[in-house]
Amino acid sequence: MSLVQWSDELTVGVAAVDDDHRKLFSLVNYLYDSMVAGRERPVVDDFINSLLIYTREHFAREEAFFEETGYPDSFVHKKEHDDLIRQITDVRESFKSGATPQKTLEMIGFLNKWLIEHIRKSDKKYAPHLHAQGIS
Ligand SMILES: [Fe+2]
Ligand SMILES: [Fe+2]
Repeated sequence: MSLVQWSDELTVGVAAVDDDHRKLFSLVNYLYDSMVAGRERPVVDDFINSLLIYTREHFAREEAFFEETGYPDSFVHKKEHDDLIRQITDVRESFKSGATPQKTLEMIGFLNKWLIEHIRKSDKKYAPHLHAQGIS
């Protein structure tokens, strides 16, 4: 069973952002499922790396929108992004140094909650600003 399902409630209303979010969700699900299924460590490690790379790309995309449109809350928002990158890096380091599957699953669960909260509260907050600038 998947850890998280996409729901319309998470739609931000900016096509490139919503596509990214769906992809991030599926990566988190793949990672979670591969842990639950007890896949070999290099497979799980690859998923963690992909999640890190894709999350960075996604954040860079949002931050480019902020730059382009002069989003006033970008400073606080970027700090949240840095925080999530740190968390994914922590999952990777902890997994690499031999954390138990239980501990890794807990960390993935926490990461997932954080991602959902960030989308619901912070990402949705910038949508009206971007829409007003003609980005949708
Ligand atoms: Fe986002
Ligand atoms: Fe964001």
